[in-house]
Amino acid sequence: MIDQTKQVTLIEGDGIGPEIAAATVAAVAAAGGQVEWERVPAGLAAVEARGTPLPEETLTSIEKNRVALKGPLGTPVGEGFRSVNVGLRQHFDLYANVRPAKTLPGVPSRFTDVDMVIVRENTEGLYSGVEHFIGKRNAAESIAIITREGSERIIRYAFEYASRHARHKVTLVHKANILKMVGGLFLEVGREVAAEYPGIEFNDMIVDATAMRMVIDPQTFDVIVTTNLFGDILSDLAAGLIGGLGVACSANLGTGGCAIFEAVHGTAPDIAGQGIANPTALMLSAVLLLEYLDQDAAANRLRRGIMAALADPEQRMRDLGGTADTATFTRAVIRQMAD
Ligand code: NAI
Repeated sequence: MIDQTKQVTLIEGDGIGPEIAAATVAAVAAAGGQVEWERVPAGLAAVEARGTPLPEETLTSIEKNRVALKGPLGTPVGEGFRSVNVGLRQHFDLYANVRPAKTLPGVPSRFTDVDMVIVRENTEGLYSGVEHFIGKRNAAESIAIITREGSERIIRYAFEYASRHARHKVTLVHKANILKMVGGLFLEVGREVAAEYPGIEFNDMIVDATAMRMVIDPQTFDVIVTTNLFGDILSDLAAGLIGGLGVACSANLGTGGCAIFEAVHGTAPDIAGQGIANPTALMLSAVLLLEYLDQDAAANRLRRGIMAALADPEQRMRDLGGTADTATFTRAVIRQMAD
């Protein structure tokens, strides 16, 4: 076998991060993933250890390796440092956040046949970080920035993704009825790009109607492309359609071949340190990472182990209505790979 060991940056993250990262590292090794992890700090852990949430060594490691697996990072609400997640996405120009939401056999959920992918613009919109108070906190202003270039590349990414993965429809989600300029420009560019892909059905929907339609009739969605804030919210909604945040994975992809894979969920401070965090979301993100590294055999083995463990009610974790803990579930994933 050719040694294709790839050095990959590992940010364990805050809260439940170290628990689910340890489980994922063990599962990737058992699946035969040829990965050498380079561990670097970020988030609240880095503030304590290095005095900054995003140390230089972390940026250097990702710059060198071009691929990272990242646990969740805590961000203070309303004050304190800016989100490291937003910072990383902007620094490495990771403009495409791809969040698949597909029904997982055996995982209790309201639907049996959800299969959608949300492609979220990751660097612009209301998350551009341009905000300030007016006067003595009497008003606050946050500026949503939508550019033609930023819109075109994310919408094109969604159509290319649809072509590559044999998907048939792209739905552009917006609020152009009210946000006539930032929403209107995104929609205008969407219509232009869609005209270049006559083989793929295209429609657009207003975000509030989309939220309702996703809950009532999620099977009608295939690929959704949308701006930063709407994508953030709708992808948690999509996670809820397939069993919850414990099972929702994602990839942040950008220019220059840089990629950061992470769970959709946050640091889950309410359960951190208890050994009950569901590692599925990070493990499925590692499946996407192995596929990205062209390590398909290991990716398939890992996916097989996860799916078999999820389908076994004895191994069901607490967030999915069972009693299994992180260690028990991880052992089951590893055992099932071999079967
Ligand atoms: P959260 O996703 O951490 O938790 C929401 C709920 O889902 C909690 O009840 C939690 O226990 C549960 N949950 C989440 N992941 C789980 C898992 N793997 N297994 C079992 N249960 C799980 O969202 P919250 O509480 O709003 O955010 C907490 C912190 O995480 C904040 O500082 C926030 O900024 C940060 N965050 C970081 C993200 C990232 O690094 N990508 C994404 C979202 C939030």
